[in-house]
Amino acid sequence: MSFTATVGRREVPCGQDQPMLDAFLRAGVWMPNSCNQGTCGTCKVRVVDGAVDHRDSPADTLTDDERAAGLALACQARLRSNVVVETAGGAGRATHPLRDLAATVREIQDIARDTRRLRLGLSEPLAFHAGQYVELTVPGTGVRRQYSLVNTAEEDKVLELHVRLVPGGAATEQWIFAGLAVGEQVQVTGPLGDFFLPPADEDDGGPMVLIGGGTGLAPLIGLARTALSRDPAREIRLYHGVRGAADLYDLDLMAELADSCPGFTFLPVLSHEPESSTYRTGFPTDCFLEDVRSARGWSGWLCGPPPMVDAGVKAFKRRRMAPRMIHRENFTPAAT
Ligand code: FAD
Ligand code: FES
Repeated sequence: MSFTATVGRREVPCGQDQPMLDAFLRAGVWMPNSCNQGTCGTCKVRVVDGAVDHRDSPADTLTDDERAAGLALACQARLRSNVVVETAGGAGRATHPLRDLAATVREIQDIARDTRRLRLGLSEPLAFHAGQYVELTVPGTGVRRQYSLVNTAEEDKVLELHVRLVPGGAATEQWIFAGLAVGEQVQVTGPLGDFFLPPADEDDGGPMVLIGGGTGLAPLIGLARTALSRDPAREIRLYHGVRGAADLYDLDLMAELADSCPGFTFLPVLSHEPESSTYRTGFPTDCFLEDVRSARGWSGWLCGPPPMVDAGVKAFKRRRMAPRMIHRENFTPAAT
């Protein structure tokens, strides 16, 4: 039996075991979302009419008090009747529909310590915004994991992902760094997430600072290239924080961007090699504080491990960046 979910004037059908967020996004109806795994709380909605099953909603993301007050995580909740929900953040507007596509592994490349580049050829083009992510399904397990898109929106037929090895990881150590081979088919679901630039006609063209930790560089490449295609003179500072020089990658691409775009600066920062004479050392968020006196009027883009993202938010606020201009993508591990 299926029900309907309504936000504003948009009503969508929702299967019995289909998360509410999935139903909205597949119908091309925007709902705020970030992790799609119950860990961030971005998709919280108020159920003003009807009933939902909270399913696997973690208690620290959706508390008992919030449940009692009628809140739900759209990425986890299943409908138990027709529902009407309210939420913030432009819910109800049109968006690129969420889809499942077959892809063929075109390339697997070791690009840095414990880091792989995957290139996946799609069976048909996928519409997305640069900075969003896709989910890969680990064959035979049903396990799904999120990986950010490196591409710009025009590069819609071959997706590029950067994947960091996690010891014991179901998707990484046991699949992407183990059996996965060129020519194999993988299932891709996307696009997902809210980590993307405003449309060109709403983009204020102001200075940007982007800080990525490890493979958190991935979506920042697509964002920076998109912003520079709109205005090659735009001021963009891209910090890449890694433990050591062996973790750096795509230095040639960064050098090319810096050569062709006078406002673009790439700043690699090593946290665990204090003696480096080639690169700056410490944390990228501290380097930003040293380099920039005021970020009033700037936008900030943070991606990677949650502690780095939290430090970045604090650093941006210390430099007077408006909270609404701060964007973040946390690489939070899947809830256990
Ligand atoms: P799991 O089987 O999920 O974890 C194995 C064990 O390791 C568990 O105990 C788990 O808690 C722990 N663990 C998992 N991750 C970490 C970690 N980072 N540090 C310490 N312990 C950990 N990863 C990328 O490499 N590139 C990306 O572009 C990328 N994009 C993401 C986008 C989003 C929105 C999110 C939420 C995550 C993203 N991630 C990305 C992380 C990725 O989705 C997986 O969580 C990661 O690859 C580990 O998956 P796994 O199945 O190998 O490990
Ligand atoms: Fe639902 Fe993160 S908790 S998108």
